[in-house]
Formats: sequence, C-alpha cells, structure tokens
Amino acid sequence: MKLKFVATFASATLALPVLVACTTTVAQKAPTPIAKTTETGVTYRTHIAPLIKAQCAECHGDDAPTLAEFKLNEEGYKKDKLGPRTDTYADLLQIVAYPDHGAFMRRLDDGTNTPDKKPGNMYKNLGETDAERAANLKMIKAWVGEGAWNLNRWKAKGDVPGITKEQLDKLQLKY
Ligand code: HEC
Repeated sequence: MKLKFVATFASATLALPVLVACTTTVAQKAPTPIAKTTETGVTYRTHIAPLIKAQCAECHGDDAPTLAEFKLNEEGYKKDKLGPRTDTYADLLQIVAYPDHGAFMRRLDDGTNTPDKKPGNMYKNLGETDAERAANLKMIKAWVGEGAWNLNRWKAKGDVPGITKEQLDKLQLKY
C-alpha cells in the first residue's frame, strides 16, 4: 500500500518536468548549423575536418595507426608512409594539445616560428600553391586560437621550455 502510494506520487511529480523538458528540447533545435558557424568562427566540423580529409587523410587516415601505436614503431610506419591518424577530432587533439602538444604546429608552421626558420615538413601538404598553403594555415591558426600557435612540447626539451598553463588556456579548437 505504502509502496503504491510512492509510485503514484513519483509518476505525478515526474510527469510535468519530463513534459517541459521534451518541449524545451524541441524548441532549442531551431538554429541551423550555418547560423551557428558564423557565430562561432572556424570549427572542426565545418572547416578543419574537410581540409584534413582532402590534404592529410592519404597518410593520416583510418588505415593509419593511432598516435600511441605510431610511437611504438615510428620507423616502420614512416617506411609505409603512414603518420599517426588525424581523421577524427579526438585523434587530432592528441597532436595539437596532449600528449604530443605542438606536433601539429611544429609540422605545419610556415617557418615564421620554427628555430631554423624553415617550414615544418608537413607545411607543403597544406595546398598546391603558396597562396593556398598560406590561406589554409591562416584558417588552421584561427581554429587553434589567437596566441595558441605555440610550438613547445608538453615538457621542456633542451633549451625549449614546456608549454605553460597560460598558453594552453588560449587553445580554442572548437568542434
Ligand atoms: C604523403 C603522406 C603524408 C601526407 C599527405 C601528410 N603527412 Fe603528415 N606525416 C607523414 C608521415 C610518414 C609522418 C611520420 C614521419 C615524420 O614524422 O615526418 C608524418 C608526420 C606528421 C606529424 C607528426 C606527428 C607526430 O606526432 O610525430 C604531423 C603533425 C603531421 N604529419 C601532420 C600532417 C598534416 C596536418 C597533413 C595535412 C596537411 C599531413 N601531415 C599530410 C606523411 C604524410
């Protein structure tokens, strides 16, 4: 008897919030993805994923090893012309932010920030012409975030200090 009362009471009190929640969810679906993109600027799903698919997936796609697997047999994968896979948001973040902080920036920099002032060895894959490469790099930098294009590793290496909390805070990387 007591149990039945609890159940009835619970369903009565739950019904209203559930109903409200359902109608709110429907109402929130209204803005189109396009409107959202202009509000948020460069996003992974609209700008970065198609670029990576077109320019990098041949060697960093779903037949490529994860970063962890790649690190276990770097020389072997290099011989097969495979780098770590970067064709998902989660995989890509591993070479941008952690654990391989800055690998993406070190390899794609146009020489402005590299110690020897030479472009990183993946910069050439950003496009066919200088103009195309520059435009794609600009878009990638905007995605990474203002002030977040740092070539430092997670930990210090030689004279180069590790990445700082202040620098990490600038990462945008919008999905
Ligand atoms: C023709 C094949 C090929 C293409 C195209 C290519 N890469 Fe690579 N990439 C490799 C190989 C092989 C390696 C591993 C050898 C090395 O470190 O240079 C690598 C390594 C990297 C690394 C270093 C990863 C690490 O953790 O050490 C990054 C970052 C990278 N590539 C980014 C890119 C991006 C971004 C693109 C597209 C703009 C791209 N690559 C296009 C073959 C390619």
